[in-house]
This record gives sequence, structure tokens and C-alpha cells, in this order.
Amino acid sequence: MSALQKMMGWVDDRFPLTATYKAHLSEYYAPKNFNFWYFFGSLALLVLVLQIVTGIFLTMNYKPDAELAFASVEYIMRDVDWGWLIRYMHSTGASMFFVVVYLHMFRGLMYGSYRKPRELIWIFGVMIYLALMAEAFLGYLLPWGQMSYWGAQVIVNLFAAVPFIGEDLSIWIRGDYVIGDATLNRFFAFHVIALPLVLLGLVVVHLVALHEVGSNNPDGVEIKKHKDPVTHIPLDGIPFHPYYTVKDIVGVIVFLMVFSAILFFAPEMGGYFLEAANFVPADPLKTPEHIAPLWYFTPFYAILRAVPPLFGSQFPGVVAMGMSIVLMFFLPWLDRSKVKSIRYRGPIYKVALALFIISFIGLGYLGLLPSTPVATIFAQVFSVIYFLFFLLMPWYTSIDKTKPEPERVTG
Ligand code: HEM
Repeated sequence: MSALQKMMGWVDDRFPLTATYKAHLSEYYAPKNFNFWYFFGSLALLVLVLQIVTGIFLTMNYKPDAELAFASVEYIMRDVDWGWLIRYMHSTGASMFFVVVYLHMFRGLMYGSYRKPRELIWIFGVMIYLALMAEAFLGYLLPWGQMSYWGAQVIVNLFAAVPFIGEDLSIWIRGDYVIGDATLNRFFAFHVIALPLVLLGLVVVHLVALHEVGSNNPDGVEIKKHKDPVTHIPLDGIPFHPYYTVKDIVGVIVFLMVFSAILFFAPEMGGYFLEAANFVPADPLKTPEHIAPLWYFTPFYAILRAVPPLFGSQFPGVVAMGMSIVLMFFLPWLDRSKVKSIRYRGPIYKVALALFIISFIGLGYLGLLPSTPVATIFAQVFSVIYFLFFLLMPWYTSIDKTKPEPERVTG
């Protein structure tokens, strides 16, 4: 027995290292037909790590103080060695996180990955999505620019629309009557420690649930139904390591090429990843002409603005915005189709999904623009489609003419 084997034996007697490696990598069998869409889970993990590492380095020079915050970010950008790179990796990384997560979620919609037995993977996913939105919102206040300040003002004021307790609630969130130093301090605490912990915990349970039931695949067939009678290995499964570790590296390299191109040539993406107004220090006495959230929030912002106020209160819009996310939790039970994958679904689901995506992107676009009567009508139409996609799903998925699902994956 070699020294290495002896050492591994010593560890294994005290900690399940080899057993864990086998259970989750070398003897974890994933469907052999993963395609491009299956890159985004591992890429989301990569971006999560990048955000945490760059965030730690930013924290070393950032000052969570309303008097110092803006200048400390400028200091990072100009004077700290490689500070500009760390800061842009983090700010561009935030947008890339949402790009990756949106594609990851879309894959779930295409292949019915949220369906039995993967309901909990999906539910943990929606919780991750919520935590990610909270994390991004809190982080955007920290540079203490005009858009940080006024964006936070608009969003925290939404809580003031809640009947009876709204006013107190918004003061409690801010720790002041307006966004101020107390707000900045608490947002910093939540952004650098509380929410990252929640996110990490959720990602762990997301993956534990995934490994309990195994991955879905582009055919939406369960590979565990056909196992080798002797080895009990799924006939359509291949060991995660080395096959998918190597495949995921290809995804990582392509992603890093795209990420670097954006990072070095257009880190602010023409104002979509970092708004121009945020290069101006926060001024509580000067409201920017047009306040818009970053692109990943704009579909929900457009839904909020599409709903007319009731007796001067924005509450109905706030409820609609909340419902647009809450509905996602129910997806596993709203879908009544006999098949999971879009490959075997009928025309109705395909049209419904296409309309849903068009509406979501349309809302995202409208949320970036100042609201005009015409834009509001479009936003209302798109919002109705968005909600109908979920609310009518039990009906249209049960009448849709599906194709028979194959027994085995088709490659
Ligand atoms: C930090 C964010 C996230 C990370 C790190 C993450 C990670 C992963 C990984 C590594 C996988 C397996 C590889 C793959 O199938 O692509 C996976 C699968 C999955 N994720 Fe996520 N995820 C995240 C967010 C989400 C969100 C927001 C949702 C949905 C709302 C979601 C829903 C799912 C589903 C349904 C699967 C199973 C897919 C299948 O087997 O077809 N995830 N996730």
C-alpha cells in the first residue's frame, strides 16, 4: 500500500472523503444527453464564487459611511492596485449572475425540470432567485451614487404603500426618515454577510435535493427507470466525473471569454450594468430625471408601474409585483402535462412559453423607459400575458396534444 493510500485510509476512517467523492462525482450518474443548457448551473456556481472572492477584496478598501463610501469606491478604482479590475469584476459579475440564472431558469421551463420529483430543487431555486435579487439591491446602495440613493429610496418607499403599517415599516427598514447613513450601514451588513450566508445555504440544499433525485435531461425521461440488473447503474447515465467535469470546463472557458470581453471592453455595458448617474455622488436634494433599476429588475418594475394606483396608493402594483414572483413557487403543481420536455409537448405549451418569454423581455425593456401612456398599455398587455401563463397553465397543459415520451434518452 502506497503512502498516499495509507493517508487516504487514515482520513476515510475519520471522515467520509472517498465515499463523498464517489457518491457525488465518480459514481454519481448523470444522464448522458446533457446539452448546452446544462452548463448554467455550474456557471452559476462559478459566478457565486467570483462574487464572494471579489467582494472580500472590495471590502478591504470600501468604507460603509455616507461621508466616505463614494470616495472609497473611486479610490478603489483609481489608486488600489488592480482595484478597478476587482470592482468591475464584481459589478459586471452581478449582471452576469442574472444572465446565467435567467438562462438556467429558462432551461427548467423548457425541460420541465421543476416537475415531480424535482419540486424542491425548483423551490430552493426560486428562493435563491429571491435572495439574489435582495443581494443585488442591497449591494447597489453601497457605492452611494445618485442611482444607489434614489433607487433605494423608490424601492423602500414601496413598503410604505402597505396599508396601516407601511409608514412605520419603511422607517424601520431605513433606520431613518430618508435613506441615510444608518441605511447604508445595515445594507452593508446584509450585503457582505447575512445574504451571502443565506445564498450559500440555499445553494447547498439546492444541490443536495438535486443529488437525491438526480438530474432531469433534455428528453425529460427518468434515467433511474432503466438500470443495469447487475450493477444497478442507470443505462443512460454516465459518471459525473470525468465526463461532466470536463464538459463543464468547456462551458467555463467560453463563459470566461465572454465575461472578459465585457469586462475589458464594456464593463458598464453602456449604462445597463452600471448606470451613468451612479458616477455622481448621492445628493438627497437632487432627484435624477429618470430613475430606473438595473436591467434584471425591470420586468418586475414594469409590472409595478402597469397596475394603476387605487385611491392614490401604489399597493395594488406592489401586490402584483410580489405575486409575479410568488407564482413561480407553484409551477410544479400548475403544470398538468403528461410529458416534461418541450421536445414532446404540443403546440399550445410552445406558444405559451414563447409568449411568456416575449412578455418578460418586453416588460424588461419597458421597465427601462420612462413611463408614457403607450408604454403603459404595452406593459399592461405583457403583464396580463405573464400572469395568464401561470394561471391558465393547469388548463392549457392538460388539453395540449403531446407526443409520446421515449422510454430511453434519445441522445
Ligand atoms: C446561485 C444560483 C444557482 C446555482 C449556483 C445553481 C446551481 C445548480 C446546479 C450546479 C445544477 C446542476 C447543473 C444543471 O442542471 O445546470 C442545478 C440544477 C437545477 N437548478 Fe439551479 N442553481 C441556481 C439557481 C437556480 C434557480 C434560480 C432556479 C429556479 C428558479 C434553479 C433551478 C434548478 C433546477 C430545476 C435544476 C434541475 C435541472 C435539471 O435537472 O434539469 N436553480 N442548479
